[in-house]
Amino acid sequence: MLTFTQVLKATKKPTYSPDVSYLLVGCLGGLGRCFAREMVQQGARHLIFLGRSGDEKPEASAMVRRMRSEGVDVQVIKGDVSKEQDVLRAVKAAKVPIAGVMQGVMALDVSKPPPWLLGPERLIDHFRIVSSPVTTSTAGIMPLIPRLPVPGTSTTPSQISLSTFSS
Ligand SMILES: NC(=O)c1ccc[n+]([C@@H]2O[C@H](COP(=O)([O-])OP(=O)(O)OC[C@H]3O[C@@H](n4cnc5c(N)ncnc54)[C@H](OP(=O)(O)O)[C@@H]3O)[C@@H](O)[C@H]2O)c1
Repeated sequence: MLTFTQVLKATKKPTYSPDVSYLLVGCLGGLGRCFAREMVQQGARHLIFLGRSGDEKPEASAMVRRMRSEGVDVQVIKGDVSKEQDVLRAVKAAKVPIAGVMQGVMALDVSKPPPWLLGPERLIDHFRIVSSPVTTSTAGIMPLIPRLPVPGTSTTPSQISLSTFSS
């Protein structure tokens, strides 16, 4: 039985195909950048980042510059994952079919008093604000991605993988 102090070591690192695109939502943030770098180290060559501020932050632009200098095709789309037209812009930017989506968005609502001071109705509003980019939007991304066969791979229209580390 596992306890909180036990961590299982992965026996095998995931690998990524150089022949497909990966859509990385909210992955120009802290944890997302770590995943993106790992994906490139493990073979990914076409990345599309979607985030509201794009690569405006110095850490994000530095990573994008570095990846491009290594020959990785990196596209940065400024947009909000909760807006269908923004997700579509990102999807249409793909030069090769999208075979994987990584969801790393974090939404914080710091404009209100802490949740425990809100009444039940405002508490539900608060919950929607912070959870919708993660929950509703995650479910909304997948139908917008064309189910195209991926040349040279066994990926069929029904096999687009979605990973999320948002919490
Ligand atoms: N950091 C950790 O150690 C850790 C550990 C476990 C789990 N997590 C979870 O992993 C997720 C990411 O954490 P993080 O530390 O990387 O956070 P972060 O640095 O704040 O990154 C979150 C990213 O989400 C983007 N974003 C927010 N709302 C968006 C929207 N509506 N549309 C598109 N992009 C949006 C932000 O960019 P813009 O503001 O430009 O849109 C930002 O780049 C969180 O859910 C967190 O709880 C983090």
